[in-house]
Amino acid sequence: MKKTASSLIVCAAMVGAVALVACPGRAQQNNTKTTNDMKAEKITLTAPAETGATLLQALQQRASTREYAPDGLTLEQLSGVLWAAAGQNRADGRLTAPSAMAMYPIRTYAVLPNGIYLYDAASHSLTRVLEGDHRRLAGQQDFVYTTPLNIVYIADLAAYAGRYDTMPEAEQLKICGMDAMAQCQNANLWACANGMASVTRLMAPGDEFLKVIGAPDTYRYILAQTVGVPAK
Ligand SMILES: Cc1cc2nc3c(=O)[nH]c(=O)nc-3n(C[C@H](O)[C@H](O)[C@H](O)COP(=O)(O)O)c2cc1C
Repeated sequence: MKKTASSLIVCAAMVGAVALVACPGRAQQNNTKTTNDMKAEKITLTAPAETGATLLQALQQRASTREYAPDGLTLEQLSGVLWAAAGQNRADGRLTAPSAMAMYPIRTYAVLPNGIYLYDAASHSLTRVLEGDHRRLAGQQDFVYTTPLNIVYIADLAAYAGRYDTMPEAEQLKICGMDAMAQCQNANLWACANGMASVTRLMAPGDEFLKVIGAPDTYRYILAQTVGVPAK
C-alpha cells in the first residue's frame, strides 16, 4: 500500500511526539545514597514507586543502551528495577515474570560497585554474597565495568528436581533462557519507563561468575543485563 504525503506527515508528527516523551521521569537523583555507595551486608529495598511513563511509552522507547553516566542508581531506582525483574506480585509468592511450569529456577544477582548481592523476592531485599567490585564478572564489554547495576540471571537446575529431572539439561536450559528473558524484559521496560537505560546481555564470563560466588554445581549462567543512568 502506498503511503500518502499526509500519512507520512502524521507518522512524522507521531515519532516527534514519542521522542518528546522519551523515557520521561528522567533519573531523579536524591544523592543521599546510590548504588555507588551501598555496601551493607543486607539492603532492604523500597516498594516500587507508582511513577513512570505509561507502558505504551515504554514500549515505544525501549532500546538497548551501551553508554551510561557514572551516576549510581538511587535506592528507589534499584528497588523498582529489581522488583520488575524478579519481584513478588501476588500473595501466593508468584512473581512479576512468568516461569515455565511455575518452577522458578532463576536466581537473580545484582552486581553493584561494592559487592555481588542475591535478590530475595519474599522479603524484597538484597543479601551480599561477595564484597568488592566484581563487575568484570558481569560482562565482557567495557561499559559493564563502570555502570552502577548489572543483573546476572543464574538458573538453579535443582528447581526441576523431583518433577522434571528426567528432562535433558539442554531442554531445561532452553526453558531457563525463556524465564530469564521474561524477567530481563520486565526490567528493561521498567528502566525505560523510569528514566533509566538498559541492555540485555548474553556475553559474560558466566562460569567464572559461578566459581567466584561459590555456586553449587546445579547452577548455570543464563543471562545478564546492565541498567544505569543514560549518558548525558
Ligand atoms: C538474548 C539477548 C542477548 C543479547 N546479548 C547482548 C550482549 O551480550 N551485548 C550487547 O551489547 N547486546 C546484547 N543484546 C542486545 C541486542 O544486541 C539488541 O537487542 C539488538 O541489537 C536490537 O537492538 P535494540 O535492543 O536497541 O532494539 C542481546 C539481546 C538479547 C535479546
